[in-house]
Amino acid sequence: MTTELETELLTAARRRRNFAIISHPDAGKTTLTEKLLLYGGAIHEAGSVKARRAQRHATSDWMAMEQQRGISITSTVLQFEYKKYHINLLDTPGHQDFSEDTYRTLAAADNAVMLEDAAKGLEPQTRKLFEVCKLRSLPIFTFFNKLDRPSRDPLDLLDEIEKELGLQTYPVNWPIGTGDRFKGVFDRRGQKIHLFERTKHGSRAAVDTVIELGDPRIEDLLEQDLYYQLKEELELLDELGTELDLDLVRAGKMTPVFFGSAMSNFGVELFLDAFLDYAMKPIARKSSAGELPPTYEDFSGFVFKLQANMDPRHRDRVAFIRVCTGKFEKDMNVTHARTGKTVRLSRPQKLFAQDRESIDVAYPGDVIGLNNPGVFAIGDTIYTGQKLEYEGIPCFSPELFAFLRNPNPSKFKQFRKGVSELQEEGAVQIMYSVDEAKREPILAAVGQLQFEVVQFRMQSEYNVETTIDMLPYSVARWVDGGWEALEKVGRLFNTVTVKDIWGRPVLLFRNEWNCRQVEGEHPVLKLNAIAPVVSGLAVSEE
Ligand code: G4P
Repeated sequence: MTTELETELLTAARRRRNFAIISHPDAGKTTLTEKLLLYGGAIHEAGSVKARRAQRHATSDWMAMEQQRGISITSTVLQFEYKKYHINLLDTPGHQDFSEDTYRTLAAADNAVMLEDAAKGLEPQTRKLFEVCKLRSLPIFTFFNKLDRPSRDPLDLLDEIEKELGLQTYPVNWPIGTGDRFKGVFDRRGQKIHLFERTKHGSRAAVDTVIELGDPRIEDLLEQDLYYQLKEELELLDELGTELDLDLVRAGKMTPVFFGSAMSNFGVELFLDAFLDYAMKPIARKSSAGELPPTYEDFSGFVFKLQANMDPRHRDRVAFIRVCTGKFEKDMNVTHARTGKTVRLSRPQKLFAQDRESIDVAYPGDVIGLNNPGVFAIGDTIYTGQKLEYEGIPCFSPELFAFLRNPNPSKFKQFRKGVSELQEEGAVQIMYSVDEAKREPILAAVGQLQFEVVQFRMQSEYNVETTIDMLPYSVARWVDGGWEALEKVGRLFNTVTVKDIWGRPVLLFRNEWNCRQVEGEHPVLKLNAIAPVVSGLAVSEE
């Protein structure tokens, strides 16, 4: 028999859609996010997200770095209601130096929107992020942006995705012209032409004229050559005969494709409507207690991100929790799986850009922010009822390495505390030399700016001036079978072995070539670019 709570959870899960946007810097993620909020009614005029950012900059201190450089380091969660849906948009940092943060955010997402600049097609950062989505078989929805600028041939763009990412494509809409002659899109769902009018800076919803393909008014509304071109291209698509297969989409094997221009709002609403209908609602997640559906009545969730000092006046830390099962209620007591301790979840926050609003309940698919008095680490599970743990969030191969030194011995304690807290928060990965004499931590990062953030925060939050000594490596690989497997193969050349905070061996290489060489010489050695974090393991004592 279905209980009242199960029905409540089922209804909530059906309405929920949770996603993150993956893209290369400059493809238009900020702009699209803002337009989604505009159509979702969460903001009334585009431009306010940027304004909010500016306001935040004025009050933030370590995030002054963001302002100085005009980049976005932190990411938050944007929640809004649209039609019958309750949407959680997991915002990710714009700068690629902080992509580790994005990787982790993808662990909390049920869907990904792959945003590409239609003039450029696939770019490096998008490819990397796609690989992370592929690991989790996330459904991917593609939005080609900036059609109001001269763009690449749409068929070419689809071909690139098929060949390079191995994803089948299904264009849900099709662009009519590009650049100055971009007039709108043909929506293959509704079989209608949508012609748009440009609005000033796209600050308001675009005016959309909808007509049938054979409507005689088309002659007055669309230049003849564009009309014929559209008809030809649509025939070609029909001949190709690809059908939209939602099972393939939800298995991460087919991507529905949309064309538009976030800046001028062309195609944004059509995208949002189709995306929400096709996207995956919160589904069962693997845990140590088996696959748990969202309707599992006990509450559970995991920490995918920690963030310090969102509000510099309070100097607090916020833990972002993805709710997986059951109902979250303010002030509830949960068990913290790693330590077995009971934690009271007080002062939960709903996160909208930088504003915080207190919440009373949350359902599977939602993200809540909790003040974190140092209890939570990334990947931690919290639950009520039967003991369970979700799979940890993997560490991704860092590409830059450096010793972090503290030249002032009297600051030893603060130094250690700072390093450990920044590591827990996921600001940077930490490794150690196997040589006991070298006790300084090795910072391992995806981008140079992560080092700068660490140094900046060590100074401003822990009052420790640090120095950085770069190391000449660019590739890290975890070893399957750990120390034992490594011992078996004997001495390795052109690599150094260090250990991660879990005490596991990590091989560092100067470049990919050296890495492939070692793999070639020792085929029994299995090297991984991604290390799963095993929850519950004690951090090695350093
Ligand atoms: P990001 O977050 O992915 O890094 O990209 P963002 O939205 O900041 O957009 C990068 C640039 O691309 C911005 O221009 C933005 O206005 C522009 N852009 C975004 N969407 C479109 C689009 O559909 N068409 C065109 N033509 N441009 C688009 P900018 O000059 O760097 O900044 P701004 O002065 O316009 O704010």
